[in-house]
Amino acid sequence: MEQRAQITRFPTASKRRSHLRIFVGKSACCGGLTMRRREMLGMALCVLGLSVAKKAITQEKKASRERERLLEPLLQQLEKMRGKYSNVPRSDGQLLNMLVKISRARNVLEVGTSNGYSAIWLCLALEETDGHLTTIEINPERVKLAEENLKQANLIHRATILEGDAHKIVPTLEGPFDFVFLDADKGREHDYFSYLYPKKLKRGAIIAVHNAIRMRQAMRQYLEMITSHDEFDTVMVSTTLDDGFAISYWRLV
Ligand SMILES: C[S@@+](CC[C@H](N)C(=O)[O-])C[C@H]1O[C@@H](n2cnc3c(N)ncnc32)[C@H](O)[C@@H]1O
Repeated sequence: MEQRAQITRFPTASKRRSHLRIFVGKSACCGGLTMRRREMLGMALCVLGLSVAKKAITQEKKASRERERLLEPLLQQLEKMRGKYSNVPRSDGQLLNMLVKISRARNVLEVGTSNGYSAIWLCLALEETDGHLTTIEINPERVKLAEENLKQANLIHRATILEGDAHKIVPTLEGPFDFVFLDADKGREHDYFSYLYPKKLKRGAIIAVHNAIRMRQAMRQYLEMITSHDEFDTVMVSTTLDDGFAISYWRLV
């Protein structure tokens, strides 16, 4: 507005000069729009952008809740066979899910898939963090079941199931992982740790070891090592009051 006023105030020495000034003036006014209008347009675009983003987030939240609701029958069906497949209890699955979300983990490793129950909880969290699960199982029948269950849960795109002995497979994985869940051969956690630390773990990584309360004797070597490790913070967490996890965090500093 001011630029335009300035132009009209100047007496033009020649037509050419006058054109030039008018051109400069128009450019400053953005093709005829005044600064005020530009500001208002900018604000309107911001408000529009925010409302589009808010709508997208609301839709994503709804989709996520809907996904969980649709999973409920499958989770309940799997929970009936929990004993047979040695699955974590639901509250432990929920804790794993929450830890992945809180830590924003994107590259997750699970050792001991069984039929994929805990993998479902992990993959559900990875939907939110846009990450991926690598999960290892030695028993071919369980691998098949895990694949079927993850397909049924519509989460198979989040997982790679590797069949075989994790002691052979883990050393071949590239990593680095930002979340590791150990739930296979109890008492061998120390070995898994040595395959992963330090190169295949990301700084800030979390290692969750299941059955660390009930099987603490078998896991003594690992638990003594990790609880006295300078670079890790470790806590025992129980959601059921009868068993639980050793959860370790690789400190950033
Ligand atoms: C406790 S179950 C895992 C349960 C599963 N995490 C869940 O909560 O749904 C342990 C699984 O580890 C597998 N396993 C044991 N030793 C293994 C090894 N060396 N490599 C890969 N898998 C192994 C077993 O076959 C079994 O299915």
